[in-house]
Amino acid sequence: MYFSPLLLSCGALLSGLVAGVPVIRSTASKPFVVVKNSCPHSIVAGTSTNGNEYGNSLSISAGGSHTFDYDAPWEGRIWARKSCQGKTCDFSGMWAPTSLAEFHFFEGSQEDFYDISFVDGWNLPLSISPNSKSDNPYNVARHCGAPKVSSLPSCPAGFETDDGACASACSHYRTPEYCCTGSNGSSDTCKGSSYAAKVKAQAPDAYSYAFDDETSVYTCKADGYTVTFCP
Ligand SMILES: *[C@@H]1O[C@H](CO)[C@@H](O)[C@H](O)[C@H]1NC(C)=O
Repeated sequence: MYFSPLLLSCGALLSGLVAGVPVIRSTASKPFVVVKNSCPHSIVAGTSTNGNEYGNSLSISAGGSHTFDYDAPWEGRIWARKSCQGKTCDFSGMWAPTSLAEFHFFEGSQEDFYDISFVDGWNLPLSISPNSKSDNPYNVARHCGAPKVSSLPSCPAGFETDDGACASACSHYRTPEYCCTGSNGSSDTCKGSSYAAKVKAQAPDAYSYAFDDETSVYTCKADGYTVTFCP
Protein backbone atom coordinates (compact mmCIF):
# COMPACT_ATOMS: atom_id res chain seq x y z
CA MET A 1 0.00 0.00 0.00
CA TYR A 2 1.20 3.46 -0.67
CA PHE A 3 0.10 5.37 2.40
CA SER A 4 3.03 7.44 3.56
CA PRO A 5 4.04 7.60 7.22
CA LEU A 6 2.90 11.21 7.10
CA LEU A 7 -0.59 10.15 6.11
CA LEU A 8 -0.72 7.41 8.72
CA SER A 9 0.14 9.90 11.44
CA CYS A 10 -2.56 12.14 10.00
CA GLY A 11 -4.94 9.17 10.20
CA ALA A 12 -4.00 8.65 13.84
CA LEU A 13 -4.71 12.31 14.45
CA LEU A 14 -8.07 12.06 12.73
CA SER A 15 -9.09 9.05 14.78
CA GLY A 16 -8.09 10.95 17.91
CA LEU A 17 -10.32 13.81 16.87
CA VAL A 18 -13.18 11.56 15.87
CA ALA A 19 -12.98 9.75 19.21
CA GLY A 20 -14.52 12.89 20.74
CA VAL A 21 -17.72 12.77 18.64
CA PRO A 22 -20.57 10.27 18.79
CA VAL A 23 -20.02 7.14 16.74
CA ILE A 24 -22.59 7.09 13.98
CA ARG A 25 -22.52 3.55 12.76
CA SER A 26 -22.21 0.08 14.09
CA THR A 27 -18.57 -0.83 14.50
CA ALA A 28 -19.34 -4.47 15.18
CA SER A 29 -19.72 -5.47 11.54
CA LYS A 30 -16.71 -6.91 9.77
CA PRO A 31 -15.31 -5.17 6.72
CA PHE A 32 -16.18 -6.63 3.34
CA VAL A 33 -15.81 -5.72 -0.30
CA VAL A 34 -18.26 -6.68 -3.02
CA VAL A 35 -16.42 -7.09 -6.32
CA LYS A 36 -18.75 -6.48 -9.25
CA ASN A 37 -17.81 -7.46 -12.76
CA SER A 38 -19.41 -4.99 -15.17
CA CYS A 39 -17.01 -5.98 -17.95
CA PRO A 40 -18.44 -7.70 -21.04
CA HIS A 41 -16.21 -10.72 -20.24
CA SER A 42 -15.41 -12.84 -17.20
CA ILE A 43 -12.58 -11.70 -14.94
CA VAL A 44 -10.27 -13.37 -12.43
CA ALA A 45 -10.40 -11.24 -9.28
CA GLY A 46 -7.73 -11.52 -6.60
CA THR A 47 -6.96 -10.17 -3.15
CA SER A 48 -3.79 -10.22 -1.07
CA THR A 49 -2.77 -8.93 2.33
CA ASN A 50 0.08 -6.42 2.40
CA GLY A 51 3.30 -8.19 3.26
CA ASN A 52 2.18 -11.46 1.64
CA GLU A 53 3.41 -11.93 -1.90
CA TYR A 54 0.50 -14.11 -2.97
CA GLY A 55 -3.19 -13.97 -2.15
CA ASN A 56 -6.09 -15.84 -3.67
CA SER A 57 -8.27 -15.36 -6.71
CA LEU A 58 -11.42 -16.62 -8.37
CA SER A 59 -13.32 -16.20 -11.60
CA ILE A 60 -16.36 -13.88 -11.77
CA SER A 61 -18.59 -14.12 -14.83
CA ALA A 62 -19.71 -11.03 -16.76
CA GLY A 63 -22.40 -9.28 -14.74
CA GLY A 64 -21.59 -11.33 -11.63
CA SER A 65 -20.17 -10.41 -8.25
CA HIS A 66 -18.27 -11.92 -5.34
CA THR A 67 -17.82 -10.72 -1.76
CA PHE A 68 -14.42 -10.79 -0.04
CA ASP A 69 -14.66 -10.78 3.78
CA TYR A 70 -11.88 -9.43 6.00
CA ASP A 71 -10.97 -9.23 9.67
CA ALA A 72 -10.01 -5.73 10.85
CA PRO A 73 -7.37 -4.55 11.13
CA TRP A 74 -6.51 -5.46 7.54
CA GLU A 75 -4.46 -3.78 4.85
CA GLY A 76 -4.21 -5.05 1.30
CA ARG A 77 -5.33 -4.96 -2.29
CA ILE A 78 -7.91 -6.21 -4.77
CA TRP A 79 -7.33 -6.55 -8.50
CA ALA A 80 -8.67 -8.38 -11.53
CA ARG A 81 -7.50 -9.64 -14.90
CA LYS A 82 -9.36 -10.67 -18.00
CA SER A 83 -7.36 -13.87 -17.95
CA CYS A 84 -4.24 -15.20 -16.23
CA GLN A 85 -2.15 -18.31 -15.81
CA GLY A 86 -1.51 -20.26 -12.60
CA LYS A 87 0.20 -18.50 -9.68
CA THR A 88 0.16 -15.14 -11.46
CA CYS A 89 -3.61 -14.99 -10.86
CA ASP A 90 -2.91 -14.78 -7.11
CA PHE A 91 -0.42 -11.94 -7.49
CA SER A 92 -0.39 -8.28 -8.34
CA GLY A 93 2.68 -6.09 -8.00
CA MET A 94 5.57 -4.58 -9.87
CA TRP A 95 6.38 -7.87 -11.66
CA ALA A 96 2.83 -8.38 -12.95
CA PRO A 97 0.99 -5.09 -12.48
CA THR A 98 -2.76 -4.44 -12.52
CA SER A 99 -5.09 -1.64 -11.54
CA LEU A 100 -5.52 -1.82 -7.75
CA ALA A 101 -8.22 -1.10 -5.23
CA GLU A 102 -6.37 -0.69 -1.92
CA PHE A 103 -7.95 -0.78 1.53
CA HIS A 104 -6.86 -0.27 5.11
CA PHE A 105 -9.57 -1.38 7.50
CA PHE A 106 -9.29 -0.38 11.14
CA GLU A 107 -10.99 -1.70 14.23
CA GLY A 108 -13.60 0.21 16.17
CA SER A 109 -14.66 3.63 15.00
CA GLN A 110 -11.43 4.60 13.25
CA GLU A 111 -12.13 5.49 9.63
CA ASP A 112 -10.97 3.22 6.83
CA PHE A 113 -8.58 4.32 4.07
CA TYR A 114 -9.10 3.31 0.47
CA ASP A 115 -7.79 4.30 -2.93
CA ILE A 116 -7.34 3.34 -6.56
CA SER A 117 -3.65 2.83 -7.32
CA PHE A 118 -1.90 2.86 -10.70
CA VAL A 119 1.50 3.00 -8.99
CA ASP A 120 2.50 -0.40 -10.39
CA GLY A 121 0.47 -0.06 -13.59
CA TRP A 122 -3.08 -0.56 -14.83
CA ASN A 123 -5.15 -3.01 -16.83
CA LEU A 124 -8.90 -2.58 -16.19
CA PRO A 125 -11.03 0.51 -15.46
CA LEU A 126 -12.49 0.43 -11.94
CA SER A 127 -14.33 2.31 -9.24
CA ILE A 128 -14.71 2.05 -5.46
CA SER A 129 -17.82 3.17 -3.64
CA PRO A 130 -18.67 2.97 0.06
CA ASN A 131 -21.97 1.15 0.72
CA SER A 132 -22.90 3.73 3.36
CA LYS A 133 -21.56 7.05 4.59
CA SER A 134 -20.21 8.11 7.96
CA ASP A 135 -20.30 11.62 9.43
CA ASN A 136 -17.59 14.07 8.42
CA PRO A 137 -17.53 16.65 11.22
CA TYR A 138 -14.05 17.90 10.26
CA ASN A 139 -14.73 18.18 6.52
CA VAL A 140 -12.02 15.77 5.50
CA ALA A 141 -11.47 15.93 1.73
CA ARG A 142 -12.87 13.05 -0.39
CA HIS A 143 -14.65 11.66 2.70
CA CYS A 144 -16.77 8.63 1.70
CA GLY A 145 -16.10 9.57 -1.92
CA ALA A 146 -16.24 7.19 -4.85
CA PRO A 147 -12.99 7.22 -6.87
CA LYS A 148 -13.57 6.13 -10.43
CA VAL A 149 -11.48 5.59 -13.55
CA SER A 150 -13.81 4.94 -16.49
CA SER A 151 -11.14 4.91 -19.17
CA LEU A 152 -7.51 4.00 -18.69
CA PRO A 153 -4.57 6.34 -19.25
CA SER A 154 -2.75 5.82 -22.54
CA CYS A 155 0.19 3.43 -22.34
CA PRO A 156 3.64 4.77 -23.26
CA ALA A 157 5.18 2.82 -26.16
CA GLY A 158 7.08 -0.20 -24.86
CA PHE A 159 5.38 -0.21 -21.44
CA GLU A 160 2.83 -2.92 -22.36
CA THR A 161 3.24 -6.12 -20.33
CA ASP A 162 2.98 -9.70 -21.60
CA ASP A 163 -0.55 -10.11 -20.26
CA GLY A 164 -1.91 -6.90 -21.78
CA ALA A 165 -1.51 -4.52 -18.84
CA CYS A 166 0.42 -1.25 -18.91
CA ALA A 167 3.41 -0.99 -16.58
CA SER A 168 3.96 2.26 -14.68
CA ALA A 169 7.31 4.01 -15.11
CA CYS A 170 8.32 2.42 -11.76
CA SER A 171 7.45 -1.12 -12.90
CA HIS A 172 9.04 -0.49 -16.30
CA TYR A 173 12.33 1.15 -15.23
CA ARG A 174 12.51 -0.16 -11.62
CA THR A 175 14.73 2.70 -10.50
CA PRO A 176 14.68 4.67 -7.20
CA GLU A 177 13.71 7.83 -9.07
CA TYR A 178 10.52 6.34 -10.56
CA CYS A 179 9.75 4.03 -7.62
CA CYS A 180 10.33 6.64 -4.88
CA THR A 181 12.89 4.48 -3.11
CA GLY A 182 16.46 5.08 -1.90
CA SER A 183 17.45 8.73 -2.20
CA ASN A 184 13.98 9.43 -3.68
CA GLY A 185 12.30 7.61 -0.80
CA SER A 186 10.26 10.38 0.84
CA SER A 187 7.50 12.77 -0.11
CA ASP A 188 10.11 15.55 -0.13
CA THR A 189 12.44 13.77 -2.55
CA CYS A 190 9.83 12.11 -4.79
CA LYS A 191 7.48 14.55 -6.48
CA GLY A 192 6.40 12.28 -9.31
CA SER A 193 7.82 12.00 -12.81
CA SER A 194 6.46 13.35 -16.10
CA TYR A 195 5.01 9.84 -16.63
CA ALA A 196 3.14 10.07 -13.32
CA ALA A 197 1.88 13.55 -14.21
CA LYS A 198 0.34 12.17 -17.43
CA VAL A 199 -1.35 9.34 -15.52
CA LYS A 200 -2.75 11.85 -13.00
CA ALA A 201 -4.08 14.07 -15.78
CA GLN A 202 -5.95 11.14 -17.35
CA ALA A 203 -7.03 9.42 -14.12
CA PRO A 204 -7.27 12.14 -11.45
CA ASP A 205 -8.87 9.83 -8.84
CA ALA A 206 -6.00 7.29 -8.89
CA TYR A 207 -2.56 7.24 -7.30
CA SER A 208 -0.01 7.96 -10.05
CA TYR A 209 3.13 7.50 -7.90
CA ALA A 210 3.91 6.32 -4.38
CA PHE A 211 3.62 9.70 -2.61
CA ASP A 212 0.55 10.91 -4.48
CA ASP A 213 -1.42 10.78 -1.20
CA GLU A 214 -2.69 14.33 -1.19
CA THR A 215 -5.13 13.87 -4.07
CA SER A 216 -5.74 10.13 -3.90
CA VAL A 217 -6.65 8.88 -0.41
CA TYR A 218 -10.28 8.43 0.62
CA THR A 219 -11.57 7.89 4.15
CA CYS A 220 -14.89 6.53 5.39
CA LYS A 221 -16.40 4.14 7.91
CA ALA A 222 -18.82 2.30 5.66
CA ASP A 223 -20.78 -0.90 6.01
CA GLY A 224 -18.80 -2.50 3.21
CA TYR A 225 -17.40 -1.19 -0.06
CA THR A 226 -18.10 -2.07 -3.68
CA VAL A 227 -15.31 -2.36 -6.24
CA THR A 228 -16.65 -2.37 -9.79
CA PHE A 229 -14.46 -3.42 -12.70
CA CYS A 230 -15.41 -1.73 -16.01
CA PRO A 231 -17.78 0.69 -14.18
C1 LIG B 1 14.76 12.12 -7.35
O1 LIG B 1 15.84 12.81 -6.77
C2 LIG B 1 16.57 13.60 -7.71
C3 LIG B 1 17.79 14.13 -7.02
O2 LIG B 1 17.45 14.83 -5.85
C4 LIG B 1 15.66 14.71 -8.24
O3 LIG B 1 16.34 15.50 -9.20
C5 LIG B 1 14.45 14.06 -8.89
O4 LIG B 1 13.53 15.06 -9.31
C6 LIG B 1 13.76 13.12 -7.91
N1 LIG B 1 12.71 12.41 -8.61
C7 LIG B 1 11.41 12.63 -8.37
C8 LIG B 1 10.48 11.74 -9.16
O5 LIG B 1 10.97 13.44 -7.58
